[in-house]
Amino acid sequence: MVSSVMELPESPRRSAESRGEAGRAWLAALPGYAEQLRELWRLELGEVLAGGKSALVVRVKTGDGRDAVLKIGPPGDGFADEVRTIAAAEGRGYVRLYAYDPERNAALLEALGPMMTTDIVSPAESVEALGHTLTQVWKVPPLPGLAGHKAEGIAELIRQLWTELSEPCSRELTQRALSYADHRAQSAAAKVMCHGDPHPANAMRVLVPRLGAESGYVFADPEPLLAEPAYDLGVVIRGWPEELSTEADPAGVLRGYCRRLEEITGVPAQAIWEWGFIERVSSGLYLMRYGHEQEGRAYLDSAERLLSRPASGAGWR
Ligand SMILES: Nc1ncnc2c1ncn2[C@@H]1O[C@H](COP(=O)(O)OP(=O)(O)O)[C@@H](O)[C@H]1O
Ligand SMILES: [Mg+2]
Repeated sequence: MVSSVMELPESPRRSAESRGEAGRAWLAALPGYAEQLRELWRLELGEVLAGGKSALVVRVKTGDGRDAVLKIGPPGDGFADEVRTIAAAEGRGYVRLYAYDPERNAALLEALGPMMTTDIVSPAESVEALGHTLTQVWKVPPLPGLAGHKAEGIAELIRQLWTELSEPCSRELTQRALSYADHRAQSAAAKVMCHGDPHPANAMRVLVPRLGAESGYVFADPEPLLAEPAYDLGVVIRGWPEELSTEADPAGVLRGYCRRLEEITGVPAQAIWEWGFIERVSSGLYLMRYGHEQEGRAYLDSAERLLSRPASGAGWR
C-alpha cells in the first residue's frame, strides 16, 4: 500500500520540492497519512493518478465495495475552500464529496473517468464542453466570506514574478497583460463563484450520466473566488501552447473560441480574450517560478506570438 504512495507522480513531487522545507516535510509525511486514511475510511488503495499539479490522488475501493478517489493536498488554506466548494455544489458541475479529513488535508471523492485532456483531443471540442460545464458551476451559491478576485492582485503577481525571474519575457508582453488587467478591474459585470482553475486536466468524464453533469463532464480541483464569469473562461482559452504554436494565426483561432464561448455562456468575447491573455502570461510566470520551467516557457512563447500578430477586426485590441 505504502509503495503506491512512493510513486507520487513527478509533477506534484516537483511542486512540493520547489516549496522548500515545508514541501519536503509533506512528502515525508505522505506515506503515513495514506496509511492512516486507509484505516480511518477502510479503503483499499489502488492506482496513483497522474495529471495533477500538487496533490496525491489515488483510486480506492471503500469498505462497501464502492469505487472512489482519495486526494491528499499539500499544506495550505486552499484545500479547505476546495472541499467546501465541492460540498456546496452537491454535484452541480463538480465531483461529489464523500468524506473530508481537515487534519490531513484529505478528501474522499466520487470516482470519475478520464480527464478531458486524454478523452477529447481537439481544443475546439474541449472549449465547447468546458463552456457548458461552467454554466453549471456558476449556479453554485458562493461560499460565505469568499474573497473577491482582484485583477489588481494578478497584476501585482505578474510584476513581482517578472522581476524575480529576471525578466523571462518581453516587457511588451507584461505591459499588455497589465493593461488588460487594468481594464478588467473596471468591469461592472456581476460576480459569481468561479471555479478558478477550470482547465481540461481538471475536468473528468462522469462514469454514469447524472444530474449536474449534462455536458458529460464535471470539474475537480476548484480554487474558488468571486469574480466575473469571464475569469473562468479566460482559463479555458489560455491553454494549448503547443497546438497554438503550429497555427499560422493563433490569435484568430483564439478569437474564434471566444466567440463560441460567448454564444454558449452569454459572456462578452472581448472580456474572455482579455482574461485569457492575462492568464496565459501569469500562468507562464507562475509555472516557471514553481518548478515547471519548460511548461511555463511554452505559455510565455505562445503569448508572445499573440502579440507579434495583433488580432485584426473590430473590438479586438
Ligand atoms: N474524482 C476523481 N476521479 C478520477 N480521477 C481523478 C479524480 N480527481 C482527480 N483525478 C485525477 O487526478 C489528477 C489530479 O487531480 P487534481 O484534483 O487536479 O489534483 P491537483 O490539485 O494536484 O491538480 C486529475 O487530473 C485526474 O487525472
Ligand atoms: Mg489539478
